[in-house]
Amino acid sequence: MRKVSVALNPEAVIGETDPRLFGAFVEHLGRCVYGGIYEPGHATADAHGFRHDVLELVRELAPTIMRYPGGNFVSGYNWEDGVGPAEKRPRRLDLAWMSTEPNTFGTNEFIDWCRLANIEPMLAVNLGTRGGDAARNLLEYCNHPGGTAWSDLRRAHGWEQAHDVKFWCLGNEMDGPWQMEMKTAEEYGRIAIEAAKMMKWIDPRIELAACGSSGRNMPTFGAWEDTVLQHTFSHVEYISLHTYVNNYADDSAALLASPDLMDGFIEEVVAIADSVAARAHSSKRIMLSFDEWNVWYRTRRNADVRVKPGWPVAPEILEEIYNMQDALAFGGMCISLLNHADRVKTACLAQLVNVIAPIMTETGGPAWRQTIFHPFAQMSNYGRGRVLRAEIDSPTYAANYYDPRGKADLYFPLPAVPYLKMAAVEDPASGAITIFALNRHLEEPMPLDVALRGFGVPVLIEALELRHADLKAVNTKDQPDNVSPAPLAGVTLATDRVQATLAPASWNMIRISR
Ligand code: AHR
Repeated sequence: MRKVSVALNPEAVIGETDPRLFGAFVEHLGRCVYGGIYEPGHATADAHGFRHDVLELVRELAPTIMRYPGGNFVSGYNWEDGVGPAEKRPRRLDLAWMSTEPNTFGTNEFIDWCRLANIEPMLAVNLGTRGGDAARNLLEYCNHPGGTAWSDLRRAHGWEQAHDVKFWCLGNEMDGPWQMEMKTAEEYGRIAIEAAKMMKWIDPRIELAACGSSGRNMPTFGAWEDTVLQHTFSHVEYISLHTYVNNYADDSAALLASPDLMDGFIEEVVAIADSVAARAHSSKRIMLSFDEWNVWYRTRRNADVRVKPGWPVAPEILEEIYNMQDALAFGGMCISLLNHADRVKTACLAQLVNVIAPIMTETGGPAWRQTIFHPFAQMSNYGRGRVLRAEIDSPTYAANYYDPRGKADLYFPLPAVPYLKMAAVEDPASGAITIFALNRHLEEPMPLDVALRGFGVPVLIEALELRHADLKAVNTKDQPDNVSPAPLAGVTLATDRVQATLAPASWNMIRISR
């Protein structure tokens, strides 16, 4: 491949990353809660039943905010079922995932777990089977200090201090036919604004995310965002986006190109949100909450992996095993998020443990890192700061991405995909720069030349690559480090310049200081 050139100017900044850009998601789904973060009786569990082997990996992954309790689950959830003495909590059928929900883990346990993990909690309210009344009661239970029935109930349950949850999602994927009590944009917009109004009357410091369409390929996309924001504009700070990229077509080149569609999706939602603002003659800017994103296909459409018969508790569903090329596409999605740090202020990797997750566990056994763990951990630990606008001169390739969820075209032509996808983030305190770079060429190494205007002679802090000769290689309980980062050799440094050769089909992180 010919040389790929990148120009970075520390003065050309896309935006500063919000700490919430590095979030994840815990849903009552399969073994995410039960057998995932919570497993009383496990050898590493504490008195609360929290698995500490999982907690250690969560700390290494370093998510900053955690969405809970769903997802599709929240649209049928009675939050009251999950608080109070555990032995009195009801078992319920969960129609989202055809499971039995024992309710032994609920809101208070989730808050305790977040505090232990040093993660900000994000709660979603049920605007499917319930509405504004249940939402305002949950907020009062969580955030009101005391002296009212709901807040005193929390105190009676053992949580004297208010939980002080700042970020709330107004429902989940409300345009999806799979959702309990799906809604039209008008219906949802009305319910969302009324819930938002009451919630902000109780606690004006909270921030709210309205549901965007559940995917860019939904027939509702576009008009949904416009209508919902026209209703809710005055009372919400965020609109949500969800994307799962796939490799149903077993087409590696298209899989690695697919994060570019995420860039387009973000830019379209920004345009719609700003058009609503313009029509409202407002300078307010609605920010984006990308509160579900990942690679997901093996366990997505196939009924017997989505649902197990007999209404089991915590069934082994959606336990996607990620391979090397999934991690590359996933890394591309990380880059898309970073490069839109000006408007995407919150994002949640869906999900955290076992269910389409970076961390896998065996119930009663060990926990280990999936391939996608590594790009996320690197982004979260080293991708915070000022995202620089990179001018990239890279050869391109053409791909045709297949997405069976689309109603019109099942194929999305991508005629000019740059082989290099990258983001560069400057730490404002030290001036150090972290480069995340994906070589999407499947056979050829990439000679990369990065010009850093006015940087001086860089000092290499660390250079790592993630690659494997077999794009389908995975990590397992017995081979947990089969796909894991290794030093990237041969990085050369000169005044205002970094050069490296990126292996074919590789994810790379290069950290330099002044
Ligand atoms: O993350 C899995 C599911 O995907 C969520 O419950 C839902 O919101 C989405 O469709």
